[in-house]
Amino acid sequence: MIPLMKNTFLHEEETKKELSEFILRTNRLSMGIMCTGFESAFAKFQKAGHAILFNSGASANLAILQSLKNLGRLKDGDKIGFSALTWSTNVMPIMQLGFNPIPIDCAVHTLNVMAETLIARLKETRIQALFITNALGFAGDLDKIKALCEDEGIMLIEDNCEALGTQIKTGKTGTFGIASSFSFFVAHHMSTIEGGMICTNDDELAEMARMVRANGWDRNLSPEQQMRWRKSNKVLNEYYSKYVFYDLAYNLRPTEITGFLGLTQIKYLKDNIRKRQKNYLKLESVVSKNPDLVSIDTSHLKLISNFAFPVICRTKEIKEKYLIRFFESEIEIRPVIAGNIQRQPFYKKYVNKEYKLPGTDFIHFCGFYCGNYPELTEDELGIIARCLAK
Ligand SMILES: Cc1ncc(COP(=O)(O)O)c(C=O)c1O
Repeated sequence: MIPLMKNTFLHEEETKKELSEFILRTNRLSMGIMCTGFESAFAKFQKAGHAILFNSGASANLAILQSLKNLGRLKDGDKIGFSALTWSTNVMPIMQLGFNPIPIDCAVHTLNVMAETLIARLKETRIQALFITNALGFAGDLDKIKALCEDEGIMLIEDNCEALGTQIKTGKTGTFGIASSFSFFVAHHMSTIEGGMICTNDDELAEMARMVRANGWDRNLSPEQQMRWRKSNKVLNEYYSKYVFYDLAYNLRPTEITGFLGLTQIKYLKDNIRKRQKNYLKLESVVSKNPDLVSIDTSHLKLISNFAFPVICRTKEIKEKYLIRFFESEIEIRPVIAGNIQRQPFYKKYVNKEYKLPGTDFIHFCGFYCGNYPELTEDELGIIARCLAK
């Protein structure tokens, strides 16, 4: 069996040993210096002004939108565009927070929203924000999308949970919008078991996200920030200040285990990404010679931090043939992310308006994926490659 993923951690044995030793020697396991240490290391990796650690990627997504709402930059009923090929918890907070979800089609040749699919949607409806997903370690023409958003006054937010490390020619994914989210759930590029991050260069947004992460209080802000909140809310008593809640929030805090694991795993990240790209290019070279399958266009990418290997067949019938091959070779496969989100029960329950999404539907019906991770052996890559050949 070639599973979708093998290990929880990069350098699994070593990491588990180090984690056990850490737990035995530390006297603090709730959010503390390990978390702030990982935030600093991740901000450096992402070249971001701020990195804020969360207990999941879903929490990071929720916190971005709640923070923007608290700051008054998004309001009830605002239309938020999102990549129709995405994960449930990219779209759910749009709905939960009272915004209006507008699906944007994804192109078959990149699996992502492209400037042209965005332009097509903007002809039908205006949107106030675009919460784009960089799917499977690929990306659309983010530089063009960013320019378009700037021209149209649309706030760009990136869900980069599946594309940590990917670079288009003009920069790393996760640096094009006002904020970006990351996931460290098992099987992502690096794992803290559960975990997520927000990166942003926006000081005000970062400050609010730290409050949204923890109850709406000011405890995780700098002394200057605390003073400002306390002064403007006339909280003059030190005794009460610890129990003043300034805006709508949750408890989405990570633990020191998350922080410790993040610091351990980030050391291996670059090497892991290189191996994923190498595996990807090896398998893609087989796909590119097979007329049954669609090759993903990566000509605009400088580094492909591939998250899983997509198999997009030319027709549904061809897909059936390849599904059998993968089953018979005992390669675990699954649908591409969550398919066309508009087809999910939760979406249909709450949203009446249906948009035509031909690209995303094609990926939904004709695509699947298998795992791509650094622990894949040459033999296993050979088995996958044989299944991908005509
Ligand atoms: C695109 C995308 N966004 C958000 C998430 C949520 O991340 P998490 O599982 O850490 O909550 C995922 C999870 O795989 C994802 O693929």
